[in-house]
Amino acid sequence: MKGVILAGGTGTRLYPLTKVVNKHLLPVGKIPMICHGIEKFKKAGIEEILIVIGKQSAGLYIDLIGSGKEWGVSVTFKVQEEAGGIAQALFLAEPFVTPGEKFVVLLGDNLFEDHLTTFVQAFKQQAVGARVLLKKVHDPKRYGVPVLEKDNIIMIEEKPEEPKSDYCVTGIYMYDSTVFETIRTIKPSARGELEITDVNNVYASKGQLTYDILDGWWTDAGTFQSLYQASGRL
Ligand code: DAU
Repeated sequence: MKGVILAGGTGTRLYPLTKVVNKHLLPVGKIPMICHGIEKFKKAGIEEILIVIGKQSAGLYIDLIGSGKEWGVSVTFKVQEEAGGIAQALFLAEPFVTPGEKFVVLLGDNLFEDHLTTFVQAFKQQAVGARVLLKKVHDPKRYGVPVLEKDNIIMIEEKPEEPKSDYCVTGIYMYDSTVFETIRTIKPSARGELEITDVNNVYASKGQLTYDILDGWWTDAGTFQSLYQASGRL
């Protein structure tokens, strides 16, 4: 299976740390944030990786990661010209994924303890659709929040005022190549972005969005507090 790490976006919540360097190159523990995603993929046997970056710090990514050789993986890069949303960044992976093939997507600012292997195995067994990983959180309003029914997610609400569960949809997603057709069907949201939640809701509406729940700690390192927390754990 192949892996995609999405590391575009602006990182405005971490300004001025992100004024001159892209968020995903900031240190988390002993290595830059982006390297944790590469390590997770490598440990799960995913060695062909596409990283979608913005224009900021593009040269630094090459300096840091190069071809991926140092990590025992093969890395290629794509540039997202503007931060038009997570689904827009994902769409850039279309030429990287062979038609009919399944693949795993990580948001570059998501840091977590669990190994991906068992989740990836479960997705390999899944006949159709998409699979996402959830985590129980105390502040679901900040995230995409799923409405669960047995093994399926029937809907995800993005940053809801009144969350319908205590779970957040983490930035760990599994799709097959039909996701690119799905992205073609969605429209920009009120904030002008192509939202990954709208993509996932297409699968949910067809009864084709399954999930697993992370056991270990998880955080997205998009705020000062969460960046600090993640650094303490890694
Ligand atoms: O972290 C999990 C959450 O991530 C989910 O619960 C939400 O459903 C999902 O929408 C997303 O929410 P955020 O508000 O945290 O997304 P953010 O805009 O901070 O972007 C997260 C990562 O996605 C970022 O590290 C890089 C990538 N990204 C984002 C945008 C907007 C891109 O590659 N390109 C983009 O244009």
